[in-house]
Amino acid sequence: MGEAKKLSGIPMMIFLVREKTISIIGAGSLGTAVIDALIEKGHQRIIATRRNNEQLDNLQKQYGIKVSSDNNYAVENSEVVVLSVKLYLIEEVCSKIKDAAKDKLVISLAAAKSIAEIEEILTRSRICRVMTGISVNDEVAAYTLGSVRAGADEIIIKYLFGGSAREVEEAALADRTWIACDTGLIAKAIEHKISSLDRLSKEDARIMYAATLEGIAKSMREGLTGEEIYNKVAGPGSFTGKLHDLLVESGAYDQMNECVKKTVNA
Ligand SMILES: NC(=O)c1ccc[n+]([C@@H]2O[C@H](COP(=O)([O-])OP(=O)(O)OC[C@H]3O[C@@H](n4cnc5c(N)ncnc54)[C@H](OP(=O)(O)O)[C@@H]3O)[C@@H](O)[C@H]2O)c1
Repeated sequence: MGEAKKLSGIPMMIFLVREKTISIIGAGSLGTAVIDALIEKGHQRIIATRRNNEQLDNLQKQYGIKVSSDNNYAVENSEVVVLSVKLYLIEEVCSKIKDAAKDKLVISLAAAKSIAEIEEILTRSRICRVMTGISVNDEVAAYTLGSVRAGADEIIIKYLFGGSAREVEEAALADRTWIACDTGLIAKAIEHKISSLDRLSKEDARIMYAATLEGIAKSMREGLTGEEIYNKVAGPGSFTGKLHDLLVESGAYDQMNECVKKTVNA
């Protein structure tokens, strides 16, 4: 009875997703991160594509998955398609896989290509947009389903991008894009600061920063706002408070807001 129950409903659906072949069209930075996340789950039925044959060989050797430079072959032989080519290539790639992608779920990871634009090309596919970051299994992705959907599509998305993925209005995907950009910006800013710390070894400083980031993450997961975390560190007259005033006066926060605006309006 326990086993029958386990094999009914959602666990059964996950079992079925495990059996599906997933093609990753454009296995570059994010595409490879999606492959990493799938391999970590024990998923083996993957076909990765890109144009560079040497890089394809590397992917084949590293993951033991199927690789191809032929997008049509990959799409024809998979049930789920993940589009992870750069934005400017989406139209060209979609036009070429249009027939092979018929009746399939096509998940676009491109930051600023709308569902309507993709549906205009892939008229017979089910489209979904997902915004996630480079550590796919640890991220909280945001997704929007297109105008045609099948019952299992959300399960497939959560299988691929994590159970905590959240469905959002399509416009809000641009906000999630900023968070993906910020992964790189925060990391680079930390490295920049570490380079000014002459007496700590780089390794020690990175380990300390990693623990600090984990502490911030823990507090945020418990529901604390950034302001509340700041207030714990920066009491009245504190040195941290003075540093914060300096940043405000220098216009650093205004510049950051400009960056956010630029991203969400792109
Ligand atoms: N990186 C991130 O953290 C991140 C986060 C959120 C969203 N995104 C989105 O993810 C998408 C990919 O970004 P990325 O950073 O992963 O870019 P990327 O590293 O350049 O990966 C794209 C890959 O597509 C391949 N490619 C180009 N033309 C192709 C074609 N015709 N058929 C098959 N593959 C092709 C390229 O390899 P070849 O040159 O060998 O073909 C390249 O490795 C973008 O739309 C971006 O907005 C990225």
